[in-house]
Amino acid sequence: MNNSKNLFPHNHFVNSELRQKLINQRPLLIWLSGLSGSGKSTIANVLEKKLYENGFLSYLLDGDNIRVGLNNDLGFSDEDRKENIRRIAEVSKLMIDAGVIVITAFISPFEEERDFAKKLVKKENYFLVHVDCSIEKCEERDVKGLYKKVRKGEIKNFTGIDSPYEEPKNPSLKINTENETVDESVEKIFSVILEKIKV
Ligand code: ADX
Repeated sequence: MNNSKNLFPHNHFVNSELRQKLINQRPLLIWLSGLSGSGKSTIANVLEKKLYENGFLSYLLDGDNIRVGLNNDLGFSDEDRKENIRRIAEVSKLMIDAGVIVITAFISPFEEERDFAKKLVKKENYFLVHVDCSIEKCEERDVKGLYKKVRKGEIKNFTGIDSPYEEPKNPSLKINTENETVDESVEKIFSVILEKIKV
């Protein structure tokens, strides 16, 4: 599959440290994981606005957006979900090297793939947020009308229904979107990450 024995990666003069000095911030991968409808995209969007208003350069990688582009060849089998997350982890690694604060909003249902991302960007650059919300509440919200389709049998392998979601065992932070407002959740995340991204 790969012929890495004939590849010779270079060390470039302009490296991560130089870029961090230039843009005056430390990179961080803020990895949001949770069920469909738990609020990942909403929180990511408001968090990114807050980062921007505070002078931080960030980039948001969001499941539905990436799946219509880079990952439009992938579906929702376990294998495809793993490949989805592997690619996102690799893209995040490049962006972290570029000095950017990356927010990812993917269900990312498997502990093994989340751990892969953590190893790839190094654990000091990885901040896992479990966006917790019961499946009942997600289904009640049904923002995209997908749970209704699942109940009609129109969608198979849906996370939390007939495809597994492994709850993060050791998240850096857990937020609960059933009991907290969006602003409260974002404030929680921002107050913890600020020390990590400030130079
Ligand atoms: S992941 O499991 O591979 O991490 P990802 O976050 O990229 O999933 O995509 C999830 C989004 O795809 C959901 O928010 C929903 O809009 C849509 N979707 C379509 N089919 C499914 C499915 N079978 N299971 C989960 N989400 C689905």
